[in-house]
Amino acid sequence: MNSLTIDVLTIFPEMFESFLKFGILKRAVENGLIHIRLINIRDSASDRHGTVDDTPYGGGAGMVMKADVLAASLKTVECFRHGTQVPVICLTPQGRRFDQRKANQLSMAGEFILICGRYRAIDERFVEKYVTEELSIGDYVLSGGEVAAMTVIDAVTRLVPGVMQDFESGMEDSFQDGLLDCSWYTRPEVFENLKVPEVLLSGNHALIKKWRQEESLKNTKIKRPDLLENIKENH
Ligand code: 6GU
Repeated sequence: MNSLTIDVLTIFPEMFESFLKFGILKRAVENGLIHIRLINIRDSASDRHGTVDDTPYGGGAGMVMKADVLAASLKTVECFRHGTQVPVICLTPQGRRFDQRKANQLSMAGEFILICGRYRAIDERFVEKYVTEELSIGDYVLSGGEVAAMTVIDAVTRLVPGVMQDFESGMEDSFQDGLLDCSWYTRPEVFENLKVPEVLLSGNHALIKKWRQEESLKNTKIKRPDLLENIKENH
């Protein structure tokens, strides 16, 4: 079984601990399907205060993450030291938008490195020298790349073969075929005067499958018409 190793460079490794302790993520770690290595950038600081940032040249508000400290931290990652070509991904609002296609691609990468930016920015020279790709999770600003890194780790882990059990059916998730999921119902049959769609009680699996496909398309048309445009463009 192939597994995935993700090395995370962050100044807040503790933020990831509870995230990895629940549900599908927890099981994937326990079953050895993913290995998450948390690397504290501060451990690579060169002074005794553990300084990882400094004021920007040219002035301005905020601090800049130091290129030398980040490079030293990156060089502690084993695969990087051994010269393997692994993706070095920086999480930043300046990056390309992370999506299900990217998640699929990363799930097959074997190993990749995530760098969580903090403060105002990362020194551009570090990005130029070491970062192979910049990713953003959307058009808004977070306090740091950690929550974005967790988003990437979660979305990617689900796609690693063996992580999802059949009943969790990752292949039928929203976005996997470029469409939103259909609507789902469980007991009771009537809830506040609303009945479950009749077809779902019919026991006719071919009909149910067809209904779900139509529902999926309808949901997408109503809630995310932009996705249908993307499908047209990609075909
Ligand atoms: Cl990856 N980082 C930060 N700080 N903010 C973001 C983001 C990443 N993606 C969207 N906003």
